[in-house]
Amino acid sequence: MTSRLFSPLQIRKTILKNRIMMAPMCQYSAHNGVAQDWHLVHLGARASGGAGLIIVEATGVVMEGRISNHCLALENQAQRDAFKKITHFIKSQNSIPAIQLAHSGRKGEGDWDLYGPSAVAFSDKYKTPRALETHEVYALADKFVHSAKLALEAGFEIIEVHMAHGYLMHQFLSPLSNFRTDEFGGSLENRMRLPLLVAKALRDFWPQDKAVFVRISATDWTDGGWDLDQSIILCRELKNCGIDFIDVSTGGNVAKATIPSSPGYQVPFAEKIKNEVGILTGAVGQITEAEQAEKILSDDKADAILLGRVLLREPYWPINAAFTLGEKPDIQKQYERGYY
Ligand SMILES: Cc1cc2nc3c(=O)[nH]c(=O)nc-3n(C[C@H](O)[C@H](O)[C@H](O)COP(=O)(O)O)c2cc1C
Repeated sequence: MTSRLFSPLQIRKTILKNRIMMAPMCQYSAHNGVAQDWHLVHLGARASGGAGLIIVEATGVVMEGRISNHCLALENQAQRDAFKKITHFIKSQNSIPAIQLAHSGRKGEGDWDLYGPSAVAFSDKYKTPRALETHEVYALADKFVHSAKLALEAGFEIIEVHMAHGYLMHQFLSPLSNFRTDEFGGSLENRMRLPLLVAKALRDFWPQDKAVFVRISATDWTDGGWDLDQSIILCRELKNCGIDFIDVSTGGNVAKATIPSSPGYQVPFAEKIKNEVGILTGAVGQITEAEQAEKILSDDKADAILLGRVLLREPYWPINAAFTLGEKPDIQKQYERGYY
């Protein structure tokens, strides 16, 4: 075993067999927030394909926290029970099941009324949200904890809190979407208050031997918006709350932002947060080649690699990458004849 990509990563008591994580990706295939056979096959295939961690797509902690009418939710027992088969299968493939707990806030696209930090629409294609009352903001942390409780019962090992891509937590963080005048708006400390309340409440609830991840957008790519300096301060606070891992994405809060995307374009954000904060980070975004992933890790720019679209095209990317890097991966016995 010589590569970094295929070296195990221990986070609390959980050991990931390699540093390849499947990024959360909405499938718009749920019914009433309940996972379907599609989710089992989709997530199961990537677990069979060799990813060390599988992160289930953005899952609304309440029904109105979904992104669309066809997104997953986790607020009732039927939704919990549908995940049990999925977590069981992922574990049977020697992979680890994780779920991204989310709330869309003003970026909901379903048939419900929206709410958010302020009564400002994301763009002219979105409904204008109602600004939450202060007491309603305080109540949000409990919704995340309720969902986390169901996630634990469903067999998930890791939860990831979605604080990125312009969804509710990010809406509170960014001065371009939060115009509140109570203790949840204004100063950076106030804008961070809700995300930190949620992180603390989840960390208090989630078993001490299991990890909590947070996905952030490290910048709004817009002057006067959320940026890397504020992200570093947020990540220090998240680390103090006991958050284990920052999954570093960008963008999503400003409809007209220009994002200079290119291979590995978000890696410098993961690197900076890893070095400045001293916390585990994941790099994501246009990482498609085994050598590219290996170099990011061996240059100490991140601790793990998250793969999105390339895994949609190539579920067996991890096993193929292992061969490319000179490893001798374990293959399921059913598929050995395809390889050896
Ligand atoms: C179909 C699709 C759905 C996505 N859904 C989510 C999601 O539920 N939560 C999230 O944080 N990011 C989501 N993303 C972003 C991915 O997790 C990832 O960060 C992004 O695609 C960049 O990585 P890539 O270049 O490897 O695809 C989605 C991306 C795609 C393509």
